[in-house]
Amino acid sequence: MRRTLLAIFIVLQLATAFGRAAVSPELAERREKLRKNMPDGVLVLFGAKESEDLHEGFYQEPNFYYLTGWEEPGAILVLTPEVDKDEPALPQRAKLPREILFLPQRVPSKEKWTGRKLGPSDPGVAQTTGFANVMPAERFESELRTILEAYPDIYALSSANATINRIAPLRTIVDAFEPIAKLRMRKSPAEITAIQRATDASVEAHKAAWRVMRPGLVEYEVAAVMVGSYMMDGCRRSAYAPIVGSGPNSTVLHYSRNNRKMDSGEVTVMDVAAECGNYASDITRTVPVNGKFTPRQREIYEIVLGAQKAAIAAIKPGMTMYKTTPNSIYQVAFDYINTHGKDLHGQPLGKYFNHGLSHHVGLDVHDADAKEPLEPGMVITVEPGIYIPEENLGIRIEDVILVTEKGAKNLSEALPRDTSELERALARQK
Ligand code: GLY
Ligand code: MN
Ligand code: MN
Repeated sequence: MRRTLLAIFIVLQLATAFGRAAVSPELAERREKLRKNMPDGVLVLFGAKESEDLHEGFYQEPNFYYLTGWEEPGAILVLTPEVDKDEPALPQRAKLPREILFLPQRVPSKEKWTGRKLGPSDPGVAQTTGFANVMPAERFESELRTILEAYPDIYALSSANATINRIAPLRTIVDAFEPIAKLRMRKSPAEITAIQRATDASVEAHKAAWRVMRPGLVEYEVAAVMVGSYMMDGCRRSAYAPIVGSGPNSTVLHYSRNNRKMDSGEVTVMDVAAECGNYASDITRTVPVNGKFTPRQREIYEIVLGAQKAAIAAIKPGMTMYKTTPNSIYQVAFDYINTHGKDLHGQPLGKYFNHGLSHHVGLDVHDADAKEPLEPGMVITVEPGIYIPEENLGIRIEDVILVTEKGAKNLSEALPRDTSELERALARQK
């Protein structure tokens, strides 16, 4: 008993020393579900390598993180399908491990630069990783060859095709994106809590931006306030490069130079959100720089907001969200925009809504998507926009929406979006 307690103590100490959270049972459940969807194939998934990129640092490959929770570089995951123990045809299948995590050996000279890693023979490696079978990465190829004697197909992401072709040149490689995406699209309660957390921090960041918003500020100064807000709120990084686009830049969809001085009379699109605990949010608000919309800005804003409200009201299980699919909330938003208001030439505004309406949000801001109809537990954005370069006027409103049994729950509803509420919030700050 004392030895067991001592072992638990050592593992907890090691986990704490490495800054690792306890392994969630959800991770093993995800792997089990995936194995059921790959009856005849072996999954091979490569984690991200140590980053040489000084801009971003290490960022684990999201599918790898989803299935392992592992955040160190150079790891490899192999899963073999569940076996029917009575299956007489290929008895060697039953003897193979169902899952192996391969970890690279520690390299002390590299650790001087990028920190201590967990090696495959470190004490407590099984408990720390949540994998009963942890092997050194140099054994990956020989283990895979053995496993492939029992299975015909290999599931892998397309980015790994060259590596797999080299190891197993004659095998069929099935794209693993779809079976993994089908799982990732349906968020667990823990994932929804994580997205809500990132969303709450992003809501506060937008409010912080409104407190400083004034003519004469440079766009990146607003971005700095927002990023500072959520990083001080416990979020590690931005979910994507912050977009703060004023005046003409408000019409550039993924503008990220953020280096223009904002002027009175303009609107600024702020598409900025946090990533917290590896989960993203994605929120856009468009506000008048001087705190008051002009009549034309207000008119266009109200149309975008009307389209967003109509699309959110149309959300329910079974609806879709793409430009060309039936029962699409995109079509609801497009029709609203195209039947309200006109451009300076008397033409309908639909052509100024020049992007999609929605995408899934999760580990990635544009999260895995197997293009299926909406279901309870999916988390998507609803983000209509109208961008009229001729008027230097771009408006986008974007919220994060959980699909429920009955319809939709707006996870970012704490952030005002009606024009009068926005103007009141901006005025209060002056
Ligand atoms: N923030 C990127 C997007 O809305 O797609
Ligand atoms: Mn988005
Ligand atoms: Mn966005």
